[in-house]
Amino acid sequence: MTLGVLTPGQLRLGVNIDHVATVRNARGSAWPDPLRAALLAETAGADGITAHLREDRRHIRDADIEALMAGIAIPLNFECAATAEMQTLALRHRPHAVCLVPEKREERTTEGGLDVAGDHARLTDYVTPLREAGCRVSMFISHDPRQIEASARIGAAVVELHTGLYSDLLAAGHVALADRELALLRTGAERAASCGLEVHAGHGLTYENVEPIAAIPELAELNIGHFLVGEAIFRGLGPAIEEMRRRMNLARGPAA
Ligand code: PXP
Repeated sequence: MTLGVLTPGQLRLGVNIDHVATVRNARGSAWPDPLRAALLAETAGADGITAHLREDRRHIRDADIEALMAGIAIPLNFECAATAEMQTLALRHRPHAVCLVPEKREERTTEGGLDVAGDHARLTDYVTPLREAGCRVSMFISHDPRQIEASARIGAAVVELHTGLYSDLLAAGHVALADRELALLRTGAERAASCGLEVHAGHGLTYENVEPIAAIPELAELNIGHFLVGEAIFRGLGPAIEEMRRRMNLARGPAA
């Protein structure tokens, strides 16, 4: 697999299918099927599929992870909290990547980044078997330099920078604050790359806000879910993904 090796200008799109499962679970039926969404995403040019198995199984379930591992040809980014249960599952399935995220039951989505600096010793022990099993370990963190450097120290291969605040500020019309947040994301991406980390970003990305993020040259991958699943209602999942890809390529310029 050549995924760790990027040519300059290339930016991968990981499609998060959690909210296909949210819709399915709303009726307690088997419909719509997250695997079918993942296969469609693959056909539409997604480079990977992301699925977050939350401790409360509110959207993706264990059987979905099994079906995705067996059914898709592109890499699976298995998102989870750093718990013993999730480590056992990750070691059983050995997905391409394991992205560790903070998780609180009461939150609606992943609200903040992981405190890698504050949980350094435990996370070092946590990621070691995952790395040994061949998974690319990714830390979902803020652009705080302490978190970036701690992620490198514990042996993560990847950091995913949290773009939620940037997207919230822009959506609320706080353009100057969003610009400041964007500048911090840029500096964070530079610092992460200089620490030898592969840099990803995600959360809250839409057609309206993706281009300044996609233009950050150190970024190798964006993970996008909620907006794409929503947009699929109006234009279909394949066209929704193709349009996101078009905007990402536009931001990268002719090299993309
Ligand atoms: N990256 C991570 C680590 C996430 O937790 C999420 C949300 O599940 C996303 C990306 C995608 O965010 P969104 O669904 O807002 O596009």
